[in-house]
Amino acid sequence: MLLASPSNPTGTLIDQRTLAAIARFVESRGGKLIVDEIYHGLVYDTGAPTVLAVSDQAFVVNSFSKYFNMTGWRLGWVVAPESHIRAADVLQQNLFIAASTPAQYAALAAFLPETLAILEARRQEFQRRRDYLLPALRELGFDIPCTPQGAFYLYANCARFTADSQAFALDVLEQTGVAITPGLDFGAHAPEKHVRFAYTTSLDKLREGVRRLQAFLAH
Ligand SMILES: Cc1ncc(COP(=O)(O)O)c(C=O)c1O
Repeated sequence: MLLASPSNPTGTLIDQRTLAAIARFVESRGGKLIVDEIYHGLVYDTGAPTVLAVSDQAFVVNSFSKYFNMTGWRLGWVVAPESHIRAADVLQQNLFIAASTPAQYAALAAFLPETLAILEARRQEFQRRRDYLLPALRELGFDIPCTPQGAFYLYANCARFTADSQAFALDVLEQTGVAITPGLDFGAHAPEKHVRFAYTTSLDKLREGVRRLQAFLAH
């Protein structure tokens, strides 16, 4: 079973009790649990539990791409159960051998106190953007049934405006210049009724985007 918490595209978290129950279930069926914790650190109002707190049989994948803002550096890590380290080693040696040296030095700099201060300020800025964009989109008529506690996405039901989220996203892009992602990229649950908003741009630009969307939806 592969899970992501916090999740892309919903930004939601799986709580520790649920993670523990899932881990027990997967183990009882002889399966393997892999949890993508790439958005750990980017959480608001709460902490994100790691699956490693409730299982020593789970695999965790993570990377420097999100919290550490090093998207494109191609640097990440896996935490694997002791029994699978050798097999993971063999895979790694055949797939990529080693992470690049510049990326490793950059990641060392990511742990300096001054960098961590920047990352914390950035986390707080994401929270401000979420707190602006969530009510603004609801006001426009998008249905977002919960307050996402992590990552930097809002996954919105757009059924009030369209029966085809992909055509809708294309129209929005062409007519307003605002880029949103159709649900199609995120699995089989009513993708035609959903679009994802990313708040990875400044508050000023988010405000301008909402203004343009409002004008677009009024026609
Ligand atoms: C849940 C999740 N996992 C993994 C990735 C990929 O990250 P990386 O840049 O480390 O390949 C993403 C990127 O959007 C993501 O959202």
